[in-house]
Amino acid sequence: MSGFFVVFEGGDGVGKTTQIDRLATHLRAAGRDITVTREPGGTALGVELRQAIMHGDHVAPRAEALLYAADRAHHIATKVRPALEAGGIVIQDRYIDSSVVYQGGARGLGDEVERISRWATEDLVPHLTIVLDMEPRAERLDRELDRVERETAEHQATMRQAFLERAGLNPARYAVIDAARTIDEVAVDVAAAVDAALVKVGIVVPPAAEGLEPWGTP
Ligand code: TYD
Repeated sequence: MSGFFVVFEGGDGVGKTTQIDRLATHLRAAGRDITVTREPGGTALGVELRQAIMHGDHVAPRAEALLYAADRAHHIATKVRPALEAGGIVIQDRYIDSSVVYQGGARGLGDEVERISRWATEDLVPHLTIVLDMEPRAERLDRELDRVERETAEHQATMRQAFLERAGLNPARYAVIDAARTIDEVAVDVAAAVDAALVKVGIVVPPAAEGLEPWGTP
């Protein structure tokens, strides 16, 4: 597989969407196709599964875990693997670690959740997982939360630790980045971590051109 697969993980509201946008802009300079995608909901079927998951009423934890796994199986097989096989760079919002932390940890389903996801994806492992790390903010509980956020809000502190533990187990494939800083500061660290991992697979991103006028600096 000649492409590069980078995943963003972290608790709710750590700024993944903004950082993914920034990284996509940065990586366009690498001259590869960039696919930005997410779980759940990165495909047409995934959008339907996402609706089912976010279903207003209680969803049995094992049913919920299997819906995430079904979304993931279809998403990886039909969108992510083909993009990687074509040599592209895939930037993905959430992957297996979210299932391990949310379903395995917060919902108490344990290690089997990881096995199910690995089976679902035929063991596709990201080249790099960026964990955006931040202390959960209490004021977030004031805004309107969807069902999943409501049911996991009280576990945010434990889930933060669980993401950090996953990263600690495999430091070569993870970068933990302090997300409690300005967007620019975080983006610089994300780009540096991704550029370093890209070099290892032989992809070089030219020095940042974003923010410059097309004719260069004065
Ligand atoms: P989403 O609405 O995409 O928001 P964000 O990622 O920006 O917080 O989040 C989807 C929710 O689903 C989020 O609360 C985490 C949860 N989730 C799981 O519980 N398990 C999973 O496997 C995935 C991918 C997400």
